[in-house]
Amino acid sequence: MAQQIKRIGVLTGGGDCPGLNAVIRGVVKSASNLYQWEIIGIEDGFEGLIKDKNRPLTQSDIKGILTLGGTILGTTNRGNPFDFVDQDGVKRDLSSVVLENIKKLSLDGLVVIGGDGSLAIANQLYKMGAPVVGVPKTIDNDLSATDVTFGFDTAVNTARDALDKLHSTAESHHRVLVLEVMGRYAGWIALHAGIAGGADVILIPEIPFDRGKVCDKVRRRFQGKAGYAIAVVAEGAKPLGEEVITQAPAGKGRLERLGGIGNRVGNDIAMCMGGDIDVRVTVLGHIQRGGTPSAFDRILGTRFGYEAIELIARGEFGKMVCLKGQDIQSVALEEAVSRMKTVPPDGQMVKTAEALGISFGR
Ligand code: F6P
Repeated sequence: MAQQIKRIGVLTGGGDCPGLNAVIRGVVKSASNLYQWEIIGIEDGFEGLIKDKNRPLTQSDIKGILTLGGTILGTTNRGNPFDFVDQDGVKRDLSSVVLENIKKLSLDGLVVIGGDGSLAIANQLYKMGAPVVGVPKTIDNDLSATDVTFGFDTAVNTARDALDKLHSTAESHHRVLVLEVMGRYAGWIALHAGIAGGADVILIPEIPFDRGKVCDKVRRRFQGKAGYAIAVVAEGAKPLGEEVITQAPAGKGRLERLGGIGNRVGNDIAMCMGGDIDVRVTVLGHIQRGGTPSAFDRILGTRFGYEAIELIARGEFGKMVCLKGQDIQSVALEEAVSRMKTVPPDGQMVKTAEALGISFGR
């Protein structure tokens, strides 16, 4: 199969995350060193296949990118070709344009590096005949078909670093400090960062919390010797019987934007502590998406990039590379996009945290 392939494309879709450039580098180096294929970089995700934005990628174009956050190809989370919203707000199905452009560019394979949204698009295009393989990315770590997505480790470390810094000021001022982190509808970042950063309270979407129990925990911290408290709140966390808090509704090809629960939890705690204790809230936001990737994410991204090339070489289209234990494997895109991976509320990680005295507000 390898000898029939001459030219492949690579694109990054959806929100960026640390490690995307490591995958691009892995793709370009493996494809040119092992098979002498030509590589075309598609710019700004699928939009590049609609608006004809692309450029050749050679080894000299990828020099020095391993350490860079973001993606040298650009990305967008608004370029769904099946539901493309143009400037006048009209929705169109432009999938046939994408297929035509794949042909026009003579791409014998296309590596789509993306999260659940981009991989679902990749799967639809594959079913229409496009020679696609997928690489899973997202700081949220919410893709069920892979043990870990790259980007997650760096995001957790960024949140952990923030918690380390918040700790010293919380202790000095005898305050409650609340940190709101990303993760959409999954609590992985909050859970991992909270354990690594020694939080007292971790609130995640998978465990709707009882506001009274959160306050009880904070009160105990002040009644005891500690005299300060740290809470990590996932942006998708919600009190029992309530809905997630959003900053903006879904629309015009965009997903709903979560955020605001950190301030809400901060206000609740301030109220229940009777105004005697200072509470401050930090919303970490897009800092979690940027910066140089951790060694783990660089290695995982590189391994994914190489394996994506091997999938193409073997003609195994419609598949996504994934990490299972220590091994890089692959899974059908169809299966990869069918289920989200959320934190098991009674899993080992949550139980470990609870054994340490961390409260999930339940
Ligand atoms: O999916 C990654 C993510 O960073 C989520 O954690 C967050 O909810 C969302 O993207 C933010 O998206 P945007 O960059 O569009 O604000």
